[in-house]
Amino acid sequence: MSSNQADVAAREFATAVMIGLSDHPRWLPCRFLYDERGSRLFDAICETPEYYLTRTESSILAASAADIRDLTGPVTLIELGSGSSRKTGHLLAAYSNHARSVHYVPVDVSEAALRTGSAAMSVAYPAVRVTGIHGTYDAAFPLLGELSPAMLVFLGSTVGNFNQTEAARFWSDVAAHLVPGDFVLLGVDLVKDPGLITAAYNDVAGHSAEFTRNVFHRMNRELGAGLDLGQIDHVAGYNPEWQRIEIFARFACEQTVHLRPLGRDVRVRAGERIMTEISRKFVLDELEQYLASFGFELRQVFTDDRRWFAVLLLQVPRRA
Ligand code: AVI
Repeated sequence: MSSNQADVAAREFATAVMIGLSDHPRWLPCRFLYDERGSRLFDAICETPEYYLTRTESSILAASAADIRDLTGPVTLIELGSGSSRKTGHLLAAYSNHARSVHYVPVDVSEAALRTGSAAMSVAYPAVRVTGIHGTYDAAFPLLGELSPAMLVFLGSTVGNFNQTEAARFWSDVAAHLVPGDFVLLGVDLVKDPGLITAAYNDVAGHSAEFTRNVFHRMNRELGAGLDLGQIDHVAGYNPEWQRIEIFARFACEQTVHLRPLGRDVRVRAGERIMTEISRKFVLDELEQYLASFGFELRQVFTDDRRWFAVLLLQVPRRA
């Protein structure tokens, strides 16, 4: 990144922080959690015994990849928020078993994760041609038409990190850019015992807490925020009414956030909570109806024995 690009990125980050911290209640956009350090911390969360999501989804994909391939036929796989691409390996293995070449297009905001993931997939599956896209999901949408026949892969229940407005925008963008006949493979975490869900976001090893603090770590490094991270606590609880985990950073004492690129300061009082993330949990029937309102048809649901997690194969209907 050139120093000019770094200045633009720092101003964009500082502006987003200023907007979120000036709101009531205060919040921060969760995309800023995922710099290189944040991506590593998230990988560590996925390995904890409490965080069942990754393991469960991976086992569903391992069991269903061949069925998914048989249902879609040959397609380009475009993965949003690919990260380490590890779980996608099950799909790439199944698709490359039946074709001489498979095109895989991972999209991620973390350049480091994209590089490592792409390299690992190219080595593990020589029949797979990888074209990595470094950027937000918006960067990938205009390419979807050219990549058809395609399957947009959106795993990990990342869709649960969108609020209602973001989700509606996301699904209308996907519906507008995919070609009739194309597919979406969506991984979602399901509503279940709140104790299990809450534990997944409060691992004993403390990776979840460190992940929440990472956005402030990043503010110190990139914005000169000057925060004492030891005085910022991670608070994550399940809200049954909204069927979602809500994650906050709670300031144990008053601190001033310096936003150097803007020449502005924001004071956060002792005891104040800043929302850093939500993670929605889904009920299959409700989700199917919601997705149908954007024109997606449910082809098949793959789930685990305990019905903790689901992988949905959706299709944009072909024109009559
Ligand atoms: C990426 N996303 C689906 C994770 C989740 O479960 O909502 C992010 C996460 N945040 C804390 N733990 C995991």
